[in-house]
Amino acid sequence: MASAFALRRHRVGRADDVHDGTCLQVDVAGRSLGIFRVGGQFRAVLNHCPHEGAPICRGTVRGTTLPSVPGTFRWGRENEILVCPWHGWEFALDSGQCLTDRRRLAMFPTEVADDGTLYVLMRGQATPEPAIPSTDAGPAPRRNPESTGITPS
Ligand code: FES
Repeated sequence: MASAFALRRHRVGRADDVHDGTCLQVDVAGRSLGIFRVGGQFRAVLNHCPHEGAPICRGTVRGTTLPSVPGTFRWGRENEILVCPWHGWEFALDSGQCLTDRRRLAMFPTEVADDGTLYVLMRGQATPEPAIPSTDAGPAPRRNPESTGITPS
């Protein structure tokens, strides 16, 4: 028997629609997501910053400063970092990890089919089996919404 919360594939577009440094915003199963391409891999990010809830997929994709000796400045990881539009926190798009905090982005796996169709995989309630109607029971008893359920003694 399949799990009630198996991964389900949701078509979000074509892989060719997503380019390095850009975001394809989509709504999937009632959630706003951003789809990013990082080094040939696709990342699906929940459009919610773990800091204070900004729509993070409206942020900027860029690089970041790298560790360097005092007095020098090194820039790298171009198109691998998502910068939140509200407070500028930086998140690595490969892992979702914030570069300066323990929090991370909520991310979902992706899949590209042979024909180039791009999917996001999300847990979702499987379609329930059709109910078998009962033949021996009448309608469920109705409760009085004002009742406390306590019987006075
Ligand atoms: S809400 Fe994203 S950094 Fe503050």
